[in-house]
Amino acid sequence: MNTKQHEKIAIVDFGSQYTQLIVRRVRECRVYSELVPHDMPAEEFKRQGVRGIILSGGPSSVYSNGAPSCDPKIFEIGIPILGICYGLQIACHLLGGKVDSAVSREYGRTRCTVDTSCELFRGLPNDFIVWMSHGDLVDDLGGEFQAIAESDNTNSAAVKHQRLPFFGVQFHPEVTHTECGQLILQNFLYRICGCAGDWRLSSYVEEAKSDIRQRVGSNTVICGLSGGVDSSVVAKLLHEAIGNQLKCIFVDNACLRQGEFEQVVQTFRDHFAIDLHAIDARSRFLDALKGVTDPEQKRRVIGHEFIAVFEEEARKIDNAKYLAQGTLYPDVIESVSPAGGPSAMIKTHHNVGGLPEKLGLDIIEPLRYLFKDEAREIGRQLGLPENIVRRHPFPGPGLAVRALGEITNEKLHVLRQADTIFLEEVEKAGLYDKLSQCFAVLLPVQTVGVMGDDRTYENVIAIRAVETSDFMTADWARLPYELLAEVSNRIINEVRGVNRVVYDVSSKPPSTIEWE
Ligand code: XMP
Repeated sequence: MNTKQHEKIAIVDFGSQYTQLIVRRVRECRVYSELVPHDMPAEEFKRQGVRGIILSGGPSSVYSNGAPSCDPKIFEIGIPILGICYGLQIACHLLGGKVDSAVSREYGRTRCTVDTSCELFRGLPNDFIVWMSHGDLVDDLGGEFQAIAESDNTNSAAVKHQRLPFFGVQFHPEVTHTECGQLILQNFLYRICGCAGDWRLSSYVEEAKSDIRQRVGSNTVICGLSGGVDSSVVAKLLHEAIGNQLKCIFVDNACLRQGEFEQVVQTFRDHFAIDLHAIDARSRFLDALKGVTDPEQKRRVIGHEFIAVFEEEARKIDNAKYLAQGTLYPDVIESVSPAGGPSAMIKTHHNVGGLPEKLGLDIIEPLRYLFKDEAREIGRQLGLPENIVRRHPFPGPGLAVRALGEITNEKLHVLRQADTIFLEEVEKAGLYDKLSQCFAVLLPVQTVGVMGDDRTYENVIAIRAVETSDFMTADWARLPYELLAEVSNRIINEVRGVNRVVYDVSSKPPSTIEWE
C-alpha cells in the first residue's frame, strides 16, 4: 500500500509471540505501523521516512548462536527507537552495555517503579504492574544509558540513552496485563516521535481504491467470493474502485450451509449490482466425493474440483489480468517471520493453492496490511450487511468435513438443518459474537433411542462451540445448559433422522476445532 503520506512506525520483528500485538496497539493509537525484517538496513528506514522504530521482543538470548540482530547504524540516524525486552537487550549489546542471564527468570506480573520526569513515563503513576517475560537482563548499562525504571528483580527495568533517541523497557507494554502499557506507547509515539495520530481506516480504504485503479487500468479483475468476511470485503472494495471491471465467481460446492448460496447472490448481485457468476456445481462435487471417506482426500477432491470449476468460468471472462484475494496481514507476517517464529506452528489449509499461476493472473491483495477486525471494520464502512461482517470463519471444504465419512446429499441435508437450528439458538441467546466458531457435526454412527413406543436407530449430532483468539489453541465454550437443552430438543424434534445430540467438551490441543 502507498503509505508514504502517513506517519509510519516500523516494528522490527525479532520473533516474539507479541510482535503482531505491537503493530495492533500502535495502530490503535492511530499511527500506521508495519512489521519489518530484523536486518533491514538503516538507509531503508530513512528512505521509507519512518517516524519511529520499535524493536520487538524475541525468544533468543543475545549471546546465542544465530541470535537475530539489527543494523547497528539504525541508532545513529536520528529516528527515535523503543526497544522492548529482547529489543532492549540487543540495543544495549550493540551500544556497549552488558546483558546477562537474570539470577531468577522473570515471567508474569511484577511491580515497577518509574521515573515520571522521563518523556516515556510522563503523566503515569509512579508505580504500576507490568508483564515481564524474559530470561536475560541488562546487567551493566555501560556508561551511556540511564535507568528510568526499576522492578523487584532489576534496577534497569527501563532505560534511556543519554546521547541517542533510544528508550528501552524490559517488560511488554503491548500486553493488556501491563497497566498503563498503552499510555507508554502513546508517549513514545506522540511525545518522542512527534506523531499526530491521524491515521484512519477510512483513509486506508481511499488509498487502497486509488492504488487499485492505478494498477488495474482498463483490465478486468476476477475475485473468488466465498461468502466469508475477507473475500466479501475485497469484492466490495474492488467494486467501489473499478465497478464492472470486477467479475466475481462464487461456486456452490454442495457443502455450503443452509441458505448461503442464495444469501450471497442476493447481497452481491441483487443488492450491490456486482457482476457475479454464481455457479451451481453441486452435482459435480458430489460425484467427485462419492466413496471418499478420508478427510484429507475429501479436502483434496474439493480443492481440485474448485480449481477446475473456477478455471472454466474464469476462462470465459475477457481481458482478465488480475485475481483478487482476501489475504490478511497475519498470513503475510507468518510467511516472513524470522526462523519460522512461533507462528510457524499454525495449521494452514491451502485448499485452492495454485490458481493464479494456472490462470496466468497477477494477484491483488487489498487487505494484506490489515488484521481481521480491521477488515471487518472496513466491511462495515463499505456498507456490507452485519451478518457477513460478523461471520465466523467457515472452512473451504465446508460441511464435507463436518459430515463425517462419505458425503451424500441425505447426510448434508440432515446436517444443514441441525446446524441452522444451533446457529439460530446461539444468535437468540446473544452469544454469536462471543464465540469464535460454532457448528454441528454429523457423526457416522447410529444409536438407539425411543420415540413414542418405538425404538429408533438413528443419527447422532455433535455440536461444537469454541473460543479462541488465533485458532491455534481453543477452548470449548461454556454454553448455558438452557441453551444446550433447547438446541438438543429442537434438533431431535425437528430434524428427521436424529435421535441424539452431544456437546463437544474438548479443547485444542489435543483435539482440533473441526472433527475431520
Ligand atoms: P482445526 O480443525 O485445524 O481448525 O483446529 C483450525 C481452523 O481452520 C479451519 N479449517 C479449515 N479452513 N480449509 C479451510 O479453509 C480447511 O480444509 C480447513 N480445515 C480446518 C477450521 O474451521 C478452524 O477455523
